[in-house]
Amino acid sequence: MSESQPGTLAALRRTDPVTGPSTEDFEYVCEYDDMVLDEFRSVEIGGREVCVVRTLAGVFAIGSKCPHQAANMCDGAIKGTMEPSERNEYHFAQEGEIVTCPWHGYEFSLRTGASVGGALKGRLGAYQIEVRDGAVYCSPRRIRPERPARAERPARRVGE
Ligand code: FES
Repeated sequence: MSESQPGTLAALRRTDPVTGPSTEDFEYVCEYDDMVLDEFRSVEIGGREVCVVRTLAGVFAIGSKCPHQAANMCDGAIKGTMEPSERNEYHFAQEGEIVTCPWHGYEFSLRTGASVGGALKGRLGAYQIEVRDGAVYCSPRRIRPERPARAERPARRVGE
């Protein structure tokens, strides 16, 4: 049995099955087959500039302004990243899930918009994508970052 390649329309259908028309107000981006691998496409979604890209890991949408000094993230590079590892061991991971800012090289997750390793406090907007009937759609609403449960949050100091 042949498996579909990561990043292909068949793989997206397998991992993100769409059962019918979306209930959200997703906006049309483009035809899936018109997307060039690892090449951002700048589109206006919900009145904001959003960078949409197809990578080996899927289709993603992020806000266009870097939270560091506002570089245009549509000029960023798609990569993976090095994960923490033992001495003399090198773990390259998350290929196709990381964007590197074109100005100062901070890395961000395409899935969540968070900076890799928490290097920056700010984050990119991340938007949900649907691939339906060969077309790509983007939600105008940002994916809400996961917050730790209340008991896991650090206690506030008096005076903060
Ligand atoms: S503007 Fe993006 S890392 Fe500085």
